Amino acid sequence: MHNSQILAARIVQQVLHGTTLPVALSAVLDEGGGAPSSVVRGFVQELVYGTLRHWGTLHALFRVLSNRPVRQPLLLPLVGVALYQLMHTRQPPYAVADQAVQAAEVAVHPAAKGFVNAVLRRFRNENEAVLARIAKSPVARYSYPAWWITRLRADYPEIWQTLLEAGNARPPLTLRVNRRRTTRDAFLEALREADADATAVGDDGVIVKKRLRIPALPGYDDGWFCVQDVSAQRAAPLLDVRDGMRVLEACAAPGGKTTHILEQAAVSLLALDSDATRLVRVEENLKRLRLDSPQVTCRQADAAQPDTWWDGQPFDRILADVPCSASGVVSRHPDVKWLRRHSDIPAFVRTQGAMLDALWPLLVPGGKLLYVTCSVFHAENKEVIAAFCDCHPDALHEVPMFAADIPHCGGQLLPSEATTGHNQDGLYYAILHKRV
Ligand SMILES: C[S@@+](CC[C@H](N)C(=O)[O-])C[C@H]1O[C@@H](n2cnc3c(N)ncnc32)[C@H](O)[C@@H]1O
Repeated sequence: MHNSQILAARIVQQVLHGTTLPVALSAVLDEGGGAPSSVVRGFVQELVYGTLRHWGTLHALFRVLSNRPVRQPLLLPLVGVALYQLMHTRQPPYAVADQAVQAAEVAVHPAAKGFVNAVLRRFRNENEAVLARIAKSPVARYSYPAWWITRLRADYPEIWQTLLEAGNARPPLTLRVNRRRTTRDAFLEALREADADATAVGDDGVIVKKRLRIPALPGYDDGWFCVQDVSAQRAAPLLDVRDGMRVLEACAAPGGKTTHILEQAAVSLLALDSDATRLVRVEENLKRLRLDSPQVTCRQADAAQPDTWWDGQPFDRILADVPCSASGVVSRHPDVKWLRRHSDIPAFVRTQGAMLDALWPLLVPGGKLLYVTCSVFHAENKEVIAAFCDCHPDALHEVPMFAADIPHCGGQLLPSEATTGHNQDGLYYAILHKRV
């Protein structure tokens, strides 16, 4: 039988050693010799995501409660998972502690039993006192690296805490209806019949309240919908595509925005991505949503090297969804908080600037380029756009308008559920018009 705490601890341990969460999940859950059932997988994932969201707090608690460094590498994540369960789930504390003690005996060392038992008992007995002890440290309080908190505080002096807290919340399951296959009302009705409570969001979106397996939702095989956060659903309408246009999606995988563009208008579209494996997912999504056609080409290429792939015909629209820190999507990717380094940000900024410089000559005069990141750091967003416009007098920056009830600031969508009752990802948008 699989011990969920051990599986979760092994995944957390891999992430803390630099492996991305999808790779660590697959390495542990898909390894040979009897893969866990879908119920166990779901539970392990819930433990891993929760533990990583709150890792700053859990690590600080461990240090206070254990009073000594530990040598066995799995011990810290194992206790971290159990502390997460005690703090953030309704599982009975005695059952959590019992399982953790057994897990320590099996996966660490028989002698580790007593240590784990003592740490968890101390947490239950001295809960308020230990939480008060760690509360002064921002890393322990907000569960982000210190550099991240400093940067966000400087960028958003008034709302940095709200943004940090929103990044630690569970994100909603948001779908986008494929209007070429069905209507939103018909899809909502089908979800209701399938006992999946859902509400409309944005122009094409649906938030499903009950957690269900995506392929089991009505219309999956028929391409009625895809999974996409409501913030990402703003891209295709902002690009303002019309029938017959030539469109480039420079960084397209896994195809969320590519497919939305094709749902909006009959365009000729080139979808590039430098990652061949991820590009396959664009092709799969195009097929499932019934959007593949001779007008759509997917190509593995470096968007910053047009000499290697451009046919010389200018594009009417370019979507540049550039590589970035992903600091705006940590509620969906909590590993990012612990994998990213402060020194990564200038490297992303250089790549973003180089990509804009390379793509700009490909845009027809009078055309539009939509710059997108899933970052909340100004350095990757408005500062990149300001630097670009300084060097390109033929570029006119339009700050997109969003409805008053959508949390935003300039072109920055803010992760916050304050006005809408649901969280949204922190994407940044800038529209660049090319003067005629
Ligand atoms: C934010 S994701 C794109 C998400 C996608 N637009 C969507 O909506 O589903 C960024 C993508 O850029 C790709 N990428 C990174 N560097 C690239 C480059 N030099 N040229 C083309 N694609 C690149 C990555 O492989 C990744 O798939």
